[in-house]
Amino acid sequence: MIYNLYRKFLKKLPKRRLHQAVYQKYIELIKATVLNSVYYPGEHVKDGRHWSSKLPEKSQRPMSMVGMKRLDNIQMSVETVITENIKGDLIETGVWRGGSVLLMKAILVANNEIERKVFLADSFQGIPAVDLDTYPDDAIHVGSDKMPVLEDNSASDVREFFEKMELLDDNVIFLEGWFEDTLPTIATNSIAVLRLDGDIYKSTWEALINLYDKVSSGGFIIIDDYYSWEGCRKAVDDFRSKNGIDEKIIDVDWTCVYWRKS
Ligand SMILES: C[S@@+](CC[C@H](N)C(=O)[O-])C[C@H]1O[C@@H](n2cnc3c(N)ncnc32)[C@H](O)[C@@H]1O
Repeated sequence: MIYNLYRKFLKKLPKRRLHQAVYQKYIELIKATVLNSVYYPGEHVKDGRHWSSKLPEKSQRPMSMVGMKRLDNIQMSVETVITENIKGDLIETGVWRGGSVLLMKAILVANNEIERKVFLADSFQGIPAVDLDTYPDDAIHVGSDKMPVLEDNSASDVREFFEKMELLDDNVIFLEGWFEDTLPTIATNSIAVLRLDGDIYKSTWEALINLYDKVSSGGFIIIDDYYSWEGCRKAVDDFRSKNGIDEKIIDVDWTCVYWRKS
């Protein structure tokens, strides 16, 4: 019944708007799949706050823990770089089960922007042990390398999600390993969307020192953990102040922020 009404509605739309409506429907479906919200509707979908404390069994886990507002922010960022023709590839440092990057890739494909690469950087075995000699600000995060939900993960599962959604191609690039080893040699000279989700000071800092210079002007820098992980916030604030970055930080939700490089 609803489907029939929807079809009638689609028939009346001019072609361009029809494409737009179907496009938006596809992206909404991808988001619902990424958050597993069809089977597990609830607060986590809205704000991504509840997965870490109460995660379902592995077979029923979502592909991302970020919640809908942060997925909306990813959509806005990727669509903006496409419409404004901002050069560069897309990367997330700290992908967990890959859902945020899967959404990026779906948006690229649906807009015929398949030449842009998407990079997934992760150890696929959790956060590294803190290194207090180099990053004393991680003192508050001692023990974060022992989070079963992050450790119990694999790149092959993530690759399989991309395959099942028919989104795996040569421009989906897995950087498996520690950021300090993988990011310095990343095969890109320009980045349009840089999304950081590595939780601690060390991981945030390593992403910024290796990748920030490659972000195109007009590109997006998204920091998932700014308000929820003190080490992350400190690394971002230190990096911005050291490099004279004063672009305005904009809130996405209770933890995530972004800015655009001017
Ligand atoms: C909170 S999860 C990422 C959530 C994900 N963005 C999503 O959409 O659900 C953090 C991830 O960062 C990874 N990570 C953190 N620090 C890292 C490092 N230095 N090197 C490699 N991976 C790291 C962990 O393995 C984990 O998968």
